[in-house]
Amino acid sequence: MPRSTPAIVATETFSRAAQPVLAVGDGLVLRPWLRRDGPEVFVAFQDPAIRRWHVRSADTAEEVDDWVDAWARSWTSGTAANWAIADARTGRLMGRASLHHMELWHGEAEVAYWVVPAARGRGLASRAVDALAEWAFEVAGFHRLELRHSVHNVQSCRVAAKSAFTLEGVNRSAGLHEDGWHDMHLHARVRTDSHAEPVARHRRATPEIPPEPATQPVFRLRR
Ligand SMILES: CC(C)(COP(=O)(O)OP(=O)(O)OC[C@H]1O[C@@H](n2cnc3c(N)ncnc32)[C@H](O)[C@@H]1OP(=O)(O)O)[C@@H](O)C(=O)NCCC(=O)NCCS
Repeated sequence: MPRSTPAIVATETFSRAAQPVLAVGDGLVLRPWLRRDGPEVFVAFQDPAIRRWHVRSADTAEEVDDWVDAWARSWTSGTAANWAIADARTGRLMGRASLHHMELWHGEAEVAYWVVPAARGRGLASRAVDALAEWAFEVAGFHRLELRHSVHNVQSCRVAAKSAFTLEGVNRSAGLHEDGWHDMHLHARVRTDSHAEPVARHRRATPEIPPEPATQPVFRLRR
């Protein structure tokens, strides 16, 4: 059955063109993933915060090589766009910034990121997200980018606020973590408000974060 609205993002953006390198500024780039990144990703996933918020652990280096291959391959399928945040001069891995759950017809995608512990606290994630959003809106033509994080992930909420992703609401009990279900903040940035970024970075307040619960069991058996 034909659709009554046009496709917002052309599939050829991904199927016909190579994944670009995006300048982030301050000596950083977003570049496609390389096989040689595997060992550094393995080390990154030894960090408890990355494991906790991405709900994934890396048991072996071989397993991580497979993730990196999949991140590199996802571009041509048009389902996700994964970049390594890297030092422009040395190529050294600083983190990951990606678009996933891409819906090309509707022009929607979800942003995700992590930064290696040694590079945190310097605004690297929000600068990477800014570069990613600029490419997504201005080059690829996406209409809306969403960003979801646990309400207890204060650092991620700051990244969202600094990159002008408006808090639209709380999805109740929507993210399963090792300690149970978390309410999730839904932030979004729409193409038409993408130019608000420089002002928003400094003035937008972080929404109030509820106190972290003590351990919350994932499943409670009824007896
Ligand atoms: C969330 C994350 C990507 C932020 O990356 P970053 O480059 O450190 O981001 P910023 O420098 O903008 O810092 C964000 C906030 O982290 C806090 N922060 C500052 N220094 C920090 C440090 N050394 N270590 C941890 N957090 C720090 C601050 O609250 C800061 O907000 P502020 O700029 O208003 O002070 C990073 O902490 C991370 O990778 N965490 C684990 C994985 C994760 O949470 N991913 C997101 C899942 S939704």
